[in-house]
Order: sequence, then structure tokens, then C-alpha cells
Amino acid sequence: MKTKKTAGRSFVNSPVIGYPGNNILGAKTVVRKLQRRDLERSMTWLKDPSVNKFLSHDFNNLTVEQEEAWYDFLQNSKDDLVFAVLDKNDLKHIGNCALHKIDPMKNTCEIGIVIGEKKYWNRGFGSDAVKNVIRFAFNSLNISRILLNVYSYNKRAISSYKKCGFVQVKVLEKDHFYDGEHWDTLVMECSRAAC
Ligand SMILES: CC(C)(COP(=O)(O)OP(=O)(O)OC[C@H]1O[C@@H](n2cnc3c(N)ncnc32)[C@H](O)[C@@H]1OP(=O)(O)O)[C@@H](O)C(=O)NCCC(=O)NCCS
Repeated sequence: MKTKKTAGRSFVNSPVIGYPGNNILGAKTVVRKLQRRDLERSMTWLKDPSVNKFLSHDFNNLTVEQEEAWYDFLQNSKDDLVFAVLDKNDLKHIGNCALHKIDPMKNTCEIGIVIGEKKYWNRGFGSDAVKNVIRFAFNSLNISRILLNVYSYNKRAISSYKKCGFVQVKVLEKDHFYDGEHWDTLVMECSRAAC
């Protein structure tokens, strides 16, 4: 990290928030910047009810125009980095993983992931991608704490996040309505010191 002197005081510059120069290689996945050509596939995942029930927004009515506008917005966002997750064996695009609310003052951010190709569930791809992205956040963005929200009925995600080093830090009781019931949202955290 560079240090600059201003009016006799030293400030430690935050690292530039941006995508890595190279793809991030994990044990099972490769992570790279999301490309415009990935949007159509991503939309089919977001609209799939068996995937969407786990996500933070209802994407059922998402239009191509909205998805394109979101992608355009991302290109200049300093708060968000969105990655495509590929199977390392054949480079098939199987999901997306993102860092949001990147705060270089607090050194915090949030993470989200969707493995949209369901035949890849429960095979370690999601955990591998999350591990890759949090390693990048800790080592290259100087993030020290990463947070996420997960619904209490998403047992697979909770188990996967624990494998990646996340611990539960808060419960938002009955704040999510799904399938006729109110469910808890768990807030989980992974700190650089603990990982
Ligand atoms: C959540 C998600 C990223 C996890 O990725 P994944 O590749 O399926 O998960 P992994 O195989 O790495 O790990 C899943 C773990 O959960 C376990 N698991 C699966 N179902 C479970 C259940 N009902 N209860 C408890 N554990 C369960 C698996 O056994 C596995 O643990 P193991 O490796 O010790 O056997 C992926 O399933 C996904 O994208 N799901 C849909 C969208 C979503 O839920 N996104 C997260 C929103 S917060």
C-alpha cells in the first residue's frame, strides 16, 4: 500500500477497488469478471423459482432491459464487483458471485453467490468460489470483515458458508416471508483474522 504526505500528515491510501488482473483460480472453480454475454444465462437462474427462493430479491419480473441497465451501472460502481463462476475443468459458466457495499473506510463488504446450474449443487463448487472471492477481498482489497445474509431455511448455503469460515453474528427474527411463513434471516461474518 502507498503512503502519501499531505500538509505534513501521512495518510495510508486504500487499495484501488477493482477486478483482479487475472482470473482467480481455485481448486474446482475459476472466477472472472462478469461479462455482458453472461447476462442471458444469469437471468434464467434468477428467474428459476427453485433458485430464486434463496435470493434477496424476487427476480421473477426482471426484464432484459433492467438486467442490461444493472450491468451498465456496475461498470462504474466502486461499491460492487461481480464475478462469473466457471467450472475449472471445462470453463462452463455455472454461477455468479459478488462483493457488494465495499467500504474502503471500514474495510468491510458483503458477499452473495448463486450457483445457478443446479446439477453443480452439493459438489463443493459454491464453497470453492466463495473461498476464492473472499481470499481476493482480504488480500487485494484490504477487506477485513465480510458479511452476508442467508435465510434460515437455506441449510445448504449455511453449511457451505460455515465451511468457508463464516460464523453467525446476528438473527433478524422472522423478517422474511416465503411460502406462507415468516423465516429468520441469519447474518454471518467472516473476518480476515479468523480465516
Ligand atoms: C448455496 C450454494 C452457493 C452452495 O454451493 P454448493 O456448491 O451447492 O455447496 P457445497 O457443496 O460447497 O457445500 C454444501 C454443503 O451443504 C451440505 N448440505 C446440503 N444440504 C444440506 C441440508 N439440507 N442441511 C445441512 N447441510 C446440507 C452439503 O452436504 C455440503 O456439505 P459437505 O461438503 O460437508 O457435505 C449453492 O447451492 C447455491 O448457489 N444455491 C442456490 C442459491 C443460493 O442459495 N445462494 C445463497 C444465497 S444466501
